[in-house]
Amino acid sequence: MTRTLGDAGREKTAERLLKSSANKFYDPEVDIDWDAPLVDGKRFIPEERSSLYGTDLWETLTPEQRIELGKHEMASIATNGIWFEVILMQLLLKEVDNGDPTTSHAQYALTEIADECRHSTMFARMSNTFGCPHYGPVKWRHKLAKILPIIGYGPALYGSILVAEEILDRLQREQMNDPEIQPLVRMVNRIHVLEEARHVTFAREEVTRRIKGMGKVELAYQRWLIAFVSWHITRSLVNPHVYKSVGIRPRDGYQAALNNPHWRATLLFSGEKIMPFLDEAGLVGAPGMQLWRSAGLLPNK
Ligand SMILES: [Fe+2]
Ligand SMILES: [Fe+2]
Repeated sequence: MTRTLGDAGREKTAERLLKSSANKFYDPEVDIDWDAPLVDGKRFIPEERSSLYGTDLWETLTPEQRIELGKHEMASIATNGIWFEVILMQLLLKEVDNGDPTTSHAQYALTEIADECRHSTMFARMSNTFGCPHYGPVKWRHKLAKILPIIGYGPALYGSILVAEEILDRLQREQMNDPEIQPLVRMVNRIHVLEEARHVTFAREEVTRRIKGMGKVELAYQRWLIAFVSWHITRSLVNPHVYKSVGIRPRDGYQAALNNPHWRATLLFSGEKIMPFLDEAGLVGAPGMQLWRSAGLLPNK
């Protein structure tokens, strides 16, 4: 099989990432002390990152309830993280199946799947340690996402993966060194941040590679698709049922969060690194602009 220059660049990156994966990785099973008790009074999420922070509903909550809500929000984000990772693993497996599995590119895709397997197990275990119910995405969204492997391809697909990975990364980086946060959460975040850095490099290069030479119509579809998927990503982070943990009706809590300028600021913050990259790559534009704003990843006009 003849390899093009593009393949050579791709192989080089994959080889570098494979080396780094062999040198630096965690096994949450042994690297986290799962028997350590949670620390009384410590938060699970910084207060100002709570979806209700600053709202009238927030004012009705006691300090203990605010911590409790943060715990459920963190469990929701983690279990939605599992959902994102499970979809990503399917896409990567397809990539291996459709290509030459002996390339470094395919080997790295398999290594990334192995990372995500450990991450998803770690997130599930953290949610169980919190004693939270399984949140994840709401049912209709979970069903809808099953069409993604059918309608998704090209730069928007890798771009969507990046949106999920980089918005979580931004929030996790902020929390991993915060002494007010539960040590378990900090360790989980630290492990995830370290390993996701490689995934981000891998996906960013794929976006740049796949967008080259794309025609106008196809590019418009790609711009819509990534904005559409990203809208679902930010809307799914906090499952409405988390609000029940502090006696708030799910619909009321969710609505308050959507209208909350502080939560909007959190979403904007989470997109601060990925949005300029996608914009420069050419993936942010009509007909997706309204969806990006509604997703909270671009400011309202
Ligand atoms: Fe991950
Ligand atoms: Fe990842």
